[in-house]
Amino acid sequence: GKPVTLSTLKKMKIDKEKFTCLTCYDASFTHVMNEAGIETILVGDSLGMVIQGQDSTLPVTIEDMCYHTASVKRGNTNAFILTDMPFMSYSDPKQALDNAAKLMQAGASMVKLEGGSWLAETVKLLSQRGIPVCAHLGLTPQSVHKFGGYKVQGKGQEAADLILQESLDLVAAGADILLYECIPTELGKTLTEAVSVPTIGIGAGVHTDGQVLVMHDMLGINLGKPPKFVKNFLTDGRNVLNAFEAFVDEVKAETFPAPEHGFKS
Ligand code: KIV
Ligand code: NA
Repeated sequence: GKPVTLSTLKKMKIDKEKFTCLTCYDASFTHVMNEAGIETILVGDSLGMVIQGQDSTLPVTIEDMCYHTASVKRGNTNAFILTDMPFMSYSDPKQALDNAAKLMQAGASMVKLEGGSWLAETVKLLSQRGIPVCAHLGLTPQSVHKFGGYKVQGKGQEAADLILQESLDLVAAGADILLYECIPTELGKTLTEAVSVPTIGIGAGVHTDGQVLVMHDMLGINLGKPPKFVKNFLTDGRNVLNAFEAFVDEVKAETFPAPEHGFKS
């Protein structure tokens, strides 16, 4: 297929066509994702857990992210590649710019940062320097110790209004995609309708413009009990390519995520 760009994703939002994203950390799985028509690949700092066996994303370094981004990039033909900025690699705008530059030079087409309105200055700087930014809101796993666990965010009107305001601030600062993790399905709908840029959800209901899952989770490879929003697609005699294709089909048809994968307000 044709290479997917930010323009492709913005047009898909306008056309109300859902798009897919899976995490990926190496060249071989990237190749299979390309075959399946996965539009966007996230080199997630979830690699700390699924690749390195850490118990959170906090130990992941910028060098780790560059290594896996370069591996994905070498295997990629047409997916749009987003890479996570790891814990404490963007604690001020200048540090963020230096580290984002490393990820872009390793092969990312966009960087993802966790946080709300406090990130606006950083988003503005990166954006002005030609680096597209995805802002990750809701459950932001790098803040797990502050949250006191992996908990649903944006429940109740006040919390929902805050996420909306932060979203608008980040888009005003230049964010080109917003990613929401573990928020109520209804809030996912409100936010997706409120912002001009594409939204991606994980545990955020069926209404976001795109859907993302951690590859290992959707292939049924889990150390422990998978979160509620996960679905194993490697079933019914499918191979890995077929599992990715089933994910694409279900996201496009809006049959995944189903109501039981979502959270209430
Ligand atoms: O690192 C990751 O896999 C992520 C997704 C859960 C969105 O950030
Ligand atoms: Na991440």
